[in-house]
Amino acid sequence: MAYQCIREEKKGKIAIIWLNRPDKLNSLTVDLVKEVQECFDSLDPEESRVVIIRGEGKHFSSGADINGFRELGPMEGFNFHRILNDLVMKIRRFPNPVIAFLHGYSMGGGLEIAESADIRIASDSAVIAQPEINIGINAGAGGNVILPRLVGRGMAMYMILTGDRITAEKAMDIGLVDLVFPDSTAWEQALHTAEKISSKPPDTMRFAKIAVNSAWESSVEASLNLEASLFGNLFSSRETKERISEFLSKSR
Ligand code: COA
Repeated sequence: MAYQCIREEKKGKIAIIWLNRPDKLNSLTVDLVKEVQECFDSLDPEESRVVIIRGEGKHFSSGADINGFRELGPMEGFNFHRILNDLVMKIRRFPNPVIAFLHGYSMGGGLEIAESADIRIASDSAVIAQPEINIGINAGAGGNVILPRLVGRGMAMYMILTGDRITAEKAMDIGLVDLVFPDSTAWEQALHTAEKISSKPPDTMRFAKIAVNSAWESSVEASLNLEASLFGNLFSSRETKERISEFLSKSR
């Protein structure tokens, strides 16, 4: 598909979505957000076992494109947020794992897209912030909703209310980022992680995403029941049976 604001790349069973407005630090326009959505819609989960979202150039994303915000009315603001919501939900609903690779400025709406990914991998130069408060607005893609679930209420409030920038290392300390690597190897490590995950049995991987997301969002008891059903269901998978047989025959 011909995109203007993003680039799609396939590496084996990994799909990479590049945010491609490096001159504008990959800030998020409506067109860019819609193209990322279209790209997710076009991916075949059998082919693209893992998706990585990253930025072209030196930065992941500096957040929503502020141009035009001065003229925005309430309904337009609401609709802009809803378009970002749709993307965030697409990432969460995509059957296979989604990894966000953070490098350079990783801020605002860009960071919030990453917050909805399943795993966040950062290069140690990443500069991470929810700076919206500095221009008098609030998070536009789940910063008030998802960030507190990742880092706890107090730390989320600190980031949202101060707009302060934090390092990748600090982000890992608070649970916002899951893995941090030196700049020189970070991308290679992100690809390596994606490759490892893409080699796992696909149904088991997908059920894990459903089970963990459900546990995050609903009661322990309902989620344990769902986990039990998914666990049982995997015994209908030929690949699961083969992997178990292989393990048992090796260990005898
Ligand atoms: N919206 C619109 N344009 C943006 C942007 C954004 N969020 N972030 C960067 N840009 C544009 C700049 O206007 C500039 O364009 P120009 O070359 O036509 O002048 C270009 O991208 C480079 O950015 P610049 O500000 O010159 O880079 P910098 O290294 O000096 O500063 C930041 C980088 C990220 C600190 C700074 O761009 C910034 O604070 N951006 C806004 C961050 C923000 O508030 N995000 C939340 C939005 S709701």
